[in-house]
Amino acid sequence: MAMTKERIPKSVQVEHEAIHSALVEATRAPGRVGAAAKALAEVLHPHFVREEEIALPPLGLLASLAAGDRLEDADVSAVLAMTDSLRRELPRMLEEHARIRAAVDALRLAASTEQNPKVRQLADQLALHAQTEEEVLYPAAVLVEISFEHARPSSPDGVLSQRSQAETHAVDVVRFPPSAPTSVNPRQR
Ligand SMILES: [Fe+2]
Ligand SMILES: [Fe+2]
Repeated sequence: MAMTKERIPKSVQVEHEAIHSALVEATRAPGRVGAAAKALAEVLHPHFVREEEIALPPLGLLASLAAGDRLEDADVSAVLAMTDSLRRELPRMLEEHARIRAAVDALRLAASTEQNPKVRQLADQLALHAQTEEEVLYPAAVLVEISFEHARPSSPDGVLSQRSQAETHAVDVVRFPPSAPTSVNPRQR
């Protein structure tokens, strides 16, 4: 089974697509809003693409893991490759979130100045999206890897037994920001 975009949970995928389309629409706005939206899209696009490759597909196994379903070795293998990359690339992805937040703040300011409530709402949605990823989705993707320890594939020489204990527990070193400062201002909503 290919662990590609179709394995990203539908709710997460739909949200990503909605944000992407709304931002593309905002880049077509005249003046400061369009310029700020283009600057944000430049930072956001490659970040979204990489998330859809390594951070979001592992979440497609959450329901099966919670149900205690048996996992195919091929699925475990594919997800382990993703979570390995995620742990390695996480510091960079969090730095990208900081740059995205700065660009979102600039977009919100432009939208307020030009009285564009729709784009201001998009800015709030994006800030909340990044916060949800840091607080829930990225940690959940790492937890999928940890959960494999409790849902080993049937064969004793399966994928997991080929990984050393130290390797599996390397996830211990992953540190998420305790609570990322959010740009969402409830009074603006
Ligand atoms: Fe995202
Ligand atoms: Fe993100």
